[in-house]
Amino acid sequence: MRKKIVAGNWKMNNDLNESISLINEIKEVLVEREDVKAIIAPTFVSLDRASQLLKGTNIGLSAQNMCYEDSGAFTGAISAKMLKSVGCEYVILGHSERRTLFGESNSDVNKKMKKAISEILTPIFCIGETLEERENGEMKTVIEKQVREGLEGISEAELTGTIVAYEPVWAIGTGKVATPDQAQEVHAFIRNLLKEMYSEELAENTTIQYGGSVKPENAAELNGRPDIDGALVGGACLKADSFVAIIKNA
Ligand code: 13P
Repeated sequence: MRKKIVAGNWKMNNDLNESISLINEIKEVLVEREDVKAIIAPTFVSLDRASQLLKGTNIGLSAQNMCYEDSGAFTGAISAKMLKSVGCEYVILGHSERRTLFGESNSDVNKKMKKAISEILTPIFCIGETLEERENGEMKTVIEKQVREGLEGISEAELTGTIVAYEPVWAIGTGKVATPDQAQEVHAFIRNLLKEMYSEELAENTTIQYGGSVKPENAAELNGRPDIDGALVGGACLKADSFVAIIKNA
């Protein structure tokens, strides 16, 4: 059976000292649950210290991005091996902010997915449509393209364990959360696509998180839907209390 996973994407927030404080606060208030896994994704500069602070807990550590190359002349880039060396187990790939602000294509995301998997880093594979695409009736076409191109050449065995995050771009940081019905419709669509591309077993076992203005107040209702398996949280993960409340309500 698949697990609910609540991941906090810190984005470009918190310097090293602020990161240490937030992790300590989360450790103080979090009551770990068997059925919900918590993951945090601080910035690169805080990962090493974060992994030391998380020792002895079940909280997972994720990076927010990585390069698909191993090493060499790629100024500013960070490799999967480097992330592993500081204790990362997960990496967020294809976040809509990477796609829209930094021009990442489905093919870039595909290369990163393959590299992460080959280095035994679990991807949190992000997909989602813009408001314009939704209003033009292109939502499913866009999502299907992101899934098919992002996962091209990846086998069922390789994909097993990957986390998928559906984040409608229009709901990110806007306070405009998708309704549980809207989210469920897309989650079921993605699960069905995975079934078509791989197998019923893989589809049923894949965690599909919802992301976009998730708060303690809406986490329970969203997670009450059959195909919604946790959350990828932005703004509300920057305070220990609200992040922990989302985990509790999931
Ligand atoms: P918000 O929760 O701030 O809308 O951000 C969602 C997100 O992008 C998580 O990756």
